[in-house]
Amino acid sequence: MNYRHAYHAGNFADVVKHTVLCRVLVNLREKPAAFRVIDTHAGAGRYDLAGPEAGKTQEWRDGIERLVRAKLADPIRALLAPYLDAVAARNPDGRLTAYPGSPALALSLLRRQDRLIACELEPRAAAALKGEIASNPRAKAIAIDGWTALQAYVPPTERRGVVLIDPPFEQPGEFDRLAEGLTAAHRKWPTGIYLLWYPVKDQAEVAAFARRLARLRIAKMLRVELTLANAGADTGLRGSGLIAVNPPWTLHDELKTLLPVLAEVMSRGPTGAVTLEWLARESAS
Ligand SMILES: C[S@@+](CC[C@H](N)C(=O)[O-])C[C@H]1O[C@@H](n2cnc3c(N)ncnc32)[C@H](O)[C@@H]1O
Repeated sequence: MNYRHAYHAGNFADVVKHTVLCRVLVNLREKPAAFRVIDTHAGAGRYDLAGPEAGKTQEWRDGIERLVRAKLADPIRALLAPYLDAVAARNPDGRLTAYPGSPALALSLLRRQDRLIACELEPRAAAALKGEIASNPRAKAIAIDGWTALQAYVPPTERRGVVLIDPPFEQPGEFDRLAEGLTAAHRKWPTGIYLLWYPVKDQAEVAAFARRLARLRIAKMLRVELTLANAGADTGLRGSGLIAVNPPWTLHDELKTLLPVLAEVMSRGPTGAVTLEWLARESAS
């Protein structure tokens, strides 16, 4: 396990992922019934943008920094507010020096009745995660393999909620593991919301993944992707995507509004390309 998210925290891929996560959570909050967030590859929970890792890559400057500085129309700002408010809360003096990871963002949107399980295997990140969230009685940080956790913790007792599956893609076969993990978890909990993150490095590989998912006989699968024209010179990461399974019914239209704005704000050259398509709709059987 060599991957350290501290090098990438707050980059364009995090902005897209965390925008989607926050919109899903806002939607879950609309009903009073409790929900659970299961974050299978949770990371450290908080990242120091002034630290050596973020300082080395400076990826956050083309991501969260651009978004925070952008002039946004009111309806766009309103949709992004839950996310941007959580980022602002980490930076009370107005300087952007800290970035909340997915478990911290989730915690910022949990209500008294909701719960978070955050899993992280890399020892230093797991210790940092524990320090970050363990004092919150609604959150549990667990040092466990995320793929094991995915099968162990679904379905949650609440029977409502979202599973974020955000592996580091440092080993071959992660696309296969995502598809297999989703298939098995969905069999146990077909009504859960699942968010599967993936990198866009090789378009053919992503297309094959999308075709495989479309054949899974799982209904309501939305593909959300943002590819930036000039990204990836150093990392090969030209874009990133999320598969949202059972997304809230408002998510498609919210992202139709938001993604072009995110693409414009975070592009260094020509505006990036957005993909928003249903891989499967209502009935997949
Ligand atoms: C992309 S990062 C997570 C970022 C985080 N979800 C966020 O959005 O803020 C992936 C994380 O998975 C961790 N990881 C790697 N292999 C794992 C495994 N088998 N189980 C759980 N976590 C793992 C890495 O240490 C890393 O912190």
